Formats: sequence, structure tokens, C-alpha cells
Amino acid sequence: MIARTFLLASALALMGAKAQIDTLLGPVYNTKLGPTPLNIYIPELLVDTGVARLYVADVGQSNCKRWTPGPVGQDGVNPVMVEDIVMHRPSKIAFMGSDPYRIHPNRTAGWMPGMAFLDADYGAQGNGAVFVYDYGNDVTGTGDVRFLTKLQIQPALQSFHPHGVKILPMDGGIIRLFVVNHRAQPPYNEDALYSVVEVLDYDPATPTVLTHRQTVSDPLIWTPNNVAPTGPTSFYVSNDHTHRSGVARTLEEYGQLPLSWITYCDFSSGTVQCLKAFDGLRGANGMNTDGQGTIFANEALGGDTIAFTPNADKTLYVSKRYNLDYVPDNVGYDPVSKTLTPTGHPKAFDFQFFAAGTAATAPSWVDVIKADGTTKRVWSDDGNLLSGSTVFEVDSTLNVALVSGVFDSRGVVRCNVPKGF
Ligand SMILES: *[C@@H]1O[C@H](CO)[C@@H](O)[C@H](O)[C@H]1NC(C)=O
Repeated sequence: MIARTFLLASALALMGAKAQIDTLLGPVYNTKLGPTPLNIYIPELLVDTGVARLYVADVGQSNCKRWTPGPVGQDGVNPVMVEDIVMHRPSKIAFMGSDPYRIHPNRTAGWMPGMAFLDADYGAQGNGAVFVYDYGNDVTGTGDVRFLTKLQIQPALQSFHPHGVKILPMDGGIIRLFVVNHRAQPPYNEDALYSVVEVLDYDPATPTVLTHRQTVSDPLIWTPNNVAPTGPTSFYVSNDHTHRSGVARTLEEYGQLPLSWITYCDFSSGTVQCLKAFDGLRGANGMNTDGQGTIFANEALGGDTIAFTPNADKTLYVSKRYNLDYVPDNVGYDPVSKTLTPTGHPKAFDFQFFAAGTAATAPSWVDVIKADGTTKRVWSDDGNLLSGSTVFEVDSTLNVALVSGVFDSRGVVRCNVPKGF
């Protein structure tokens, strides 16, 4: 009986592995089947970091176009090193968090605390920006500047370096943006609350402006990565590490230590009130919400996407956990098809080398998680088109997919929606 189960599981594993055949461990451990008798003893760390992955194939790419990027180390009219993208599907526009200061022009570490790149003096030389992209009207998909607007924040912020970006549609057509901002405040102070969440309003009637409403700062917003709004004056925010730098941070990462957490904040009363909503995550990273109460977060170091449900007191409990076989960064959500697109790094070390400027490319990977829970890879790249993917956002009604990588200075990529989405 055991032998038969084993054989059946092996056969299933091999069949299910077809789409994942470019990984050495893939055939025996893939997102479709989860643990099987063949793979149950392979440590997840090895699978998620992709150390045994031989190569990453180009999968699901159709009509992909890479845009003209902005320059590194100076403000430009094009987005560059976009970490997160969020679509507002009713008006067919997308918001993009761009920052030319994440790395230096010579590709060494700049200002990006999410990667422990802590050159605050360099970050203070200029700002990133949120761009709005009119994807509904850009029929050629080339990201021409006619369809891109670099939004001016009013009143201007002292320092703006966007990380995670999410939106909340409001009354009167206004779209409220919640943006993680790693403020560069030289000289660098390890203990300062330099990273905050900015609340900004986009009014289509004045489409070049982002009106600043609130800067949310709190000791529980320590290493913010991404946000999930729950109302005009409340949100969840992930903190990706306990340690901001050094050996302790490295141990936290490679030990897959559960030292990161999600904070809930409310500023409806005028003062900011935050609480720890869920503790003990392994590298809490990208966040999203279905707008119906479910909160999603990726565990980058744990290789999982987690669906949470809020309790009455705003703390969270895990309602579902999806095991992925790579390091997931951000997670897109298409409300039309109710599909999640966790996006990340199938070779974690390559991503680190690429970010640090010691590797020319790093591969990219996107899974879908369907409403029924099925999980599979729909898009991937060996790194030549797009390195170190951090976000994949889809409008399935217009056949538009936008994909970008936080340290890829070669430009945002637009593709058709991949098969199997
Ligand atoms: C790269 O540029 C930075 C900033 O200008 C500089 O501090 C650093 O020494 C340079 N590194 C290399 C290897 O050229």
C-alpha cells in the first residue's frame, strides 16, 4: 500500500512537474503538488533559494516590450527601478513607485533600506517619484512619455523614496495612495524612524498632482515594505526585518527566522495609533487586499503567500497559506479574475549579486494563485528581459501585464497576459 502510494505520488510529481522542469528540485517539489513522499525531506530553504535550480526558462512571454528607463542617480522623465505597480482598473491607469537612487550609477549599493542599502547621503541628493501610466490609451504598449506622468507631490516632501504602493478608491473619483517612503536623512541614524507610510490623494481632475494628506510614523513602522489599505484612514503594513543591517540581519535571512511582522495603523482621530497585528513572519514582504476583508502578505524568506482575516481587534489570523518554491516579493491581485500574482526571485543569491552589482542579471518568476487555490508559474525570465522581478500586475480585460524589478535599471516591461493566467 505504501509502495503503491509512493509510486502514484512519484508519477503525479513527474507529470505535475512539466511546467517546472527547469529546476533540479522542481520535478520532485513543485508548487502544484506541495510535499510528496519524494520531496518531503528536501529542506524548504534549499527549494526557495533555488540553489539547485539549473536555469530559469523564458515562460509565458507574449508581445513583451521593455520601455525607455529614466537615468540612475538623477531625476528623469521615465520611471526606473520600479519596485511596485498597482493598477486602478476602472480608469485603466497604473501607479508606479520609481526611484533612481536605489543604486549608484556604477551599480554599487545606494539608498534602499529594504535591501540594507544605506547610503543616506546619496539618497538625499534627489527623490524618487510615483508615475501614473495610462495603459488604456497606450495601444502600442511601449510606455511612451505621452502616456506617463511623473506626479508632483504637494506640498513637497523633504525626502521621497517609494517602496510598496497600494491604492484605495474614494468618493468623488479620488484615488488614495498609501506609499512606503524610506526618507533619506543624513547622516544615517540606525535608530531613527526614517521609514514611514505616506498618504496621498490622486484626483483625475488634476492629473499631475499628488496631494499629501498624512505622514504616518510609528515605532511599529520600523522596516516597512508594503501596505494594504483597509479604509481612508487605516492600513496594514509589513515590516520585512527586525534587523536593519549587519550580521544579525544576514542570520535573520538565511536562518529563515520568524522575526518580522505586520502592523495595523489607524489615524482617523488625527493621532496615529498602531498595533502589532501578526508577529513571527519570515520576511514579511509584499501586501495586498481583495477589498473584501482579506489581507494578503508574502513571506519572502518562507517562500509562502498568506491570506489573513482580521479579528475584531484588527489583529490577523492565517486563513490560508500557499507554498511557493522561490522568494516571493510583491503580490498583485486582479479583482476581475480574483487571481493573485506573487512575483519574485527563483535564484535568491543571483538576485543579491545582481542588486549589489556583481552579477549582470538575475532571473524573474511569477506564479498565479487562482481563486480555487491552484498555484502555478505563468511567467518567468532568465534575466535578459527583466532581472529580479518584484511585481506583476494584470488587467485581464485589456490583456495588459506590467512587470518590473526593483534594481533593474533597463526599464519597466509590458506584455500580453500570459497563457494560464
Ligand atoms: C561607486 O560610486 C560610489 C558613489 O560615487 C563610490 O562611493 C564608490 O567608491 C564607487 N565604487 C566603485 C567600485 O567604483
